Amino acid sequence: MTNYEELMNKAKEASQKAYAPYSKFKVGACVLTENNNIYTGCNFENASYGLSICAERNTIGSAVANGEYKIKAIAIYSPNMQNCTPCGACRQVIDEFKSDSGTVVLTEKDGKILSHRIEELLPGGFTL
Ligand code: THU
Repeated sequence: MTNYEELMNKAKEASQKAYAPYSKFKVGACVLTENNNIYTGCNFENASYGLSICAERNTIGSAVANGEYKIKAIAIYSPNMQNCTPCGACRQVIDEFKSDSGTVVLTEKDGKILSHRIEELLPGGFTL
């Protein structure tokens, strides 16, 4: 059974690979899917700033590319910020792939892992 600490450690490791020469704000993420598989990713920026991709969406893209559409947990870490919660766009994307048994967003503050339910971070997420 994967624990939250393991997910956070993998998000930390992934944050070191971030390509963030413009903002210098590095972010790593680690997703745990319903099949208990793990995917990691980081943010990557572009000289055309608006093309930058957040760590969360990059990571979820890897899960999807592997045919995994249900996320039980996503850990997010930035060496630049405590309790680095996802931006609004990423909240909506996490919501799209939430697990029927619930999805938690994990962040770190003062060395402790905080757990937030996606519905808490995005009340009334858009669905079709
Ligand atoms: N960023 C993320 O990767 N995730 C978030 O939830 C917030 C912002 C990235 C985007 C950009 O590369 C940098 O952090 C500064 O906004």
